Amino acid sequence: MSDRVKIFDTTLRDGEQSPGCSMNLSEKIEVARQLEKMKVDVIEAGFAISSPGDFESVSTIAKTVKDCSVASLARSTVKDIDAAWEAVKVAADPPIHLFIATSPLHMEYKLRMTPEQVLCKTAEMVAYAKKYCSNIEFSAEDATRSDWEFLAKVVNVAIANGATVINLPDTVGYTTPNEMRELIEYMVKNTDHAGRAEFSVHCHNDLGMAVANSLAGVLGGARQIECTVNGLGERAGNTALEEVVMAMHTRPDLFGDLHTGIETTRIYRASRAVYNIIGQSAPLNKPIVGKNAFLHESGIHQHGVLANKKTYEILTPESVGIVANNLVLGKHSGKHAFESRLNELGYHLSPEDLIACFEEFKTLCDKKKTISDEDIEAIVLHKTTLEGMSEEEGYHLDRFVVHTSNYTTSTSTVSLKKGDELFEEVSLGDGPIDASFKAIDKIVNPEAHTFKTYTINSISEGKDTLGDVTVRLAAGGRTFTGKGLSTDIIEASILAYINAINKMQFAMAKAKED
Ligand code: KIV
Ligand code: ZN
Repeated sequence: MSDRVKIFDTTLRDGEQSPGCSMNLSEKIEVARQLEKMKVDVIEAGFAISSPGDFESVSTIAKTVKDCSVASLARSTVKDIDAAWEAVKVAADPPIHLFIATSPLHMEYKLRMTPEQVLCKTAEMVAYAKKYCSNIEFSAEDATRSDWEFLAKVVNVAIANGATVINLPDTVGYTTPNEMRELIEYMVKNTDHAGRAEFSVHCHNDLGMAVANSLAGVLGGARQIECTVNGLGERAGNTALEEVVMAMHTRPDLFGDLHTGIETTRIYRASRAVYNIIGQSAPLNKPIVGKNAFLHESGIHQHGVLANKKTYEILTPESVGIVANNLVLGKHSGKHAFESRLNELGYHLSPEDLIACFEEFKTLCDKKKTISDEDIEAIVLHKTTLEGMSEEEGYHLDRFVVHTSNYTTSTSTVSLKKGDELFEEVSLGDGPIDASFKAIDKIVNPEAHTFKTYTINSISEGKDTLGDVTVRLAAGGRTFTGKGLSTDIIEASILAYINAINKMQFAMAKAKED
């Protein structure tokens, strides 16, 4: 058995399908690029049959990504498998990932199939997919609540028909580490996999054990972990990529020669990019990537760390790509200093993006004395979210004026540009932000939607910090996340709302065309 544990990333499929995490095409491409740079083995880019939008994003990512394979999920049906293959066939060594449920509950109530019918369907559909490509992953959905003897029969049938990866998901996050390890050991012992197929684990985090269960599966003999950046995913999420990878990296005494191919110094950036795109930030105490993950506040801990870092630090911030700030940037910093700081932080921008970000940086320097790494990252990540929509396609803020106090109704006058046209509206509202959003609505007359959430975070310390606003709108069964960044929180709010409205209008117009 090889010591190499493959990382199969499903941020763009299992992660993206969870509430509040939907992404547009350019955002998905950005995530795929981050995953490629981090050197994951497989990117599951979506569920091709589920919508024309999903099909387009899987096939675009399959064309874009060069250094890892790109998979699409498919149910065990001819239509699903055809669509999955059509979407991934241009990728390097593309796998098809098909699944069917094997637990008594799922077979009886969801599939309305007998165990014999599930066995037959597995044989038939794996063989059908095998006509397209050699690399076939078969998942037995709800494996951890399935009868082990029956599951072993399904696994054998899948392998006999050409499956090369057998994935055993803990679909509802029900199992425990010991049980997961025993399940994999049982399958390794009782199936005809040797030299033909490898085992994979896919764990959900409902009881907070997804990472532990995945690692236990590896100790039991699995050689692939399915996971998502930041642990995004249905309900309580999936196994967090950064946590399983760093656990194996940090404990060679337990994992021996078992290792992944992940470039760990890319982890922090990938995590920040994904949080930024979905408009969330890491909980402060999130392992590996949370703001407090490497902070030592108590006196006893600080004393220990000063004497020897290893007293309280089991892994270094540098190992996941968090770099210490050794250069303060401000209004006198030139483009060269800005670019070299960006490079130190791991961002290598195209000349056009560099110019655009440098302009933003200069504007910020007029408002803020010193610019932190967080500010610089916020500028770069914010740029990324707007990528993919041309100037003409959306509205842009020209200017706004608000009148507000704690004893009068607020008024906002907003001017927006679209191409060469200028629009202006005024509105009253319950506070300056509500008034501004209403003025924007009068201009755009947007599609019917629900205003889901509004959040504001400060990027760094100090009263002059940048405000990072996220607005989430829901329409047509999808969520649209808008981001805005400014030292003025009303401006940041307006920018975020326009960004969300633009994305929504753009997607709805496209859906009508399709
Ligand atoms: O959780 C699950 O069972 C899945 C499968 C479709 C792989 O996501
Ligand atoms: Zn899942």
